Amino acid sequence: MDKFVIEGGHKLAGRVKISGAKNGSLAIMPATILAPGAYHLTNTPNLRDVWTMSRLLGSMGSFCELNGNDLFIDSTNLSSFEAPYEHVKKMRASFYVLGPLLARWGQAKVSLPGGCAWGPRPVDLHLKGLERLGAKVDVEKGYIMAKAKQLHGAKFHFDISSVGATGNVMMAAVLAKGTSLLTNAAIEPEITALARMLVKMGAKINGIGTTMLEIEGVHELHPVDEETIPDRIEAATYMIAVAMTGGKIELQNVNPYHLTAVVAKLEEVGCTIDVNNNNIVVEMDKDPIPSDMTTSVYPGMPTDVQAQWMALMLRAKGDSRITDNVYRDRFKHVPELQRLGAKIELTDNSAIIRGGKQLSGATVMSSDLRASASLVLAALVAEGTTELLRVYHIDRGYDSIEEKLVSLGANIKRVKTDLI
Ligand code: UD1
Repeated sequence: MDKFVIEGGHKLAGRVKISGAKNGSLAIMPATILAPGAYHLTNTPNLRDVWTMSRLLGSMGSFCELNGNDLFIDSTNLSSFEAPYEHVKKMRASFYVLGPLLARWGQAKVSLPGGCAWGPRPVDLHLKGLERLGAKVDVEKGYIMAKAKQLHGAKFHFDISSVGATGNVMMAAVLAKGTSLLTNAAIEPEITALARMLVKMGAKINGIGTTMLEIEGVHELHPVDEETIPDRIEAATYMIAVAMTGGKIELQNVNPYHLTAVVAKLEEVGCTIDVNNNNIVVEMDKDPIPSDMTTSVYPGMPTDVQAQWMALMLRAKGDSRITDNVYRDRFKHVPELQRLGAKIELTDNSAIIRGGKQLSGATVMSSDLRASASLVLAALVAEGTTELLRVYHIDRGYDSIEEKLVSLGANIKRVKTDLI
């Protein structure tokens, strides 16, 4: 197992190329189930979750090859409609295959994902939406068994805006007979990008980018080549990193429009930000100003940036409050940040950060992807050396994070360890 050894106290400077979006790839890869044939997905991030999705699609008979950032998928020989527990337990996004499998085969057997490191993550909306389209859904021995001879168009309202449920139901509705109207649909860029790819494949979807999707089912779709959108969460992580260490960095290959809330918040805390077509320059020459932050659905501040924002607020002299309204229990990073000397008080889904205290290096543990990112950021400004264990969590979602940080001037090494 690998750990990171991070020496704090180095300013960041230089350029960093942002990878394709993890959550973008994980949404569009399952769409290849919908139409047999060859796909070339460019700008694919080379990271564990993408490998896991490739293995899952491979286990069903698709050919998947990731060559650098070029992902080739051939779904011609896909012949199974089962997503086994061994894959789904590694990554909840595996659940995305449910809708496409049902649409292609009229049946699907997909393991229930179970719990998540930071709390409950239900899938009821995915199932209710598919039931509205005519699927019969049962749970047997930990598996969702879904069947529908022919899905039909229907109206479905998402009680809560859900990225995964919108993706799943949309992928089923594109091959249903008749018209579907999905309301309170998620508008996260990764879902909008998935909708655009489906349209390129021959789907008929109106209202893309809005919370109301009108989908007229078609008889069949065809394979396409598609470019994965840039990773807004990876970009936000590097922007917060330089806001913490001070310095100046240029992020390349970003979509600034997807980062509007993050840019505004970072300007509020004192960063100077220059936004161009597909690059952003961030400069910080002082301590950040305390600023409260509440997560919400897009275009609000993403819950996937909450932990990193907390690390930033530890640098701000004064108190700030962070509230997570999307995932109310997502605070596994708090006790680990406290091991570095952070003063944080947690009540329900809010944390008060008493910032401005110098952090000091210690051994800490990754618990989930974004929690690990916050620990890396905190380690960059901690006095002395921090050892971060279980970095496989960070490898799930950050392509080459230590190489990228080192190229910006950080001192971070990946080391093999027996400690787990
Ligand atoms: C996706 C992202 C994840 C991000 C999250 C919120 C991927 C692979 N993952 O996860 O990184 O943190 O969006 O932006 O894209 N909910 C229900 N019932 C459901 C589904 C969701 O109650 O059936 C609730 C959840 O508990 C949560 C909220 O809806 O409170 C939003 O979750 P959702 O958007 O579904 O998150 P994911 O798609 O799992």
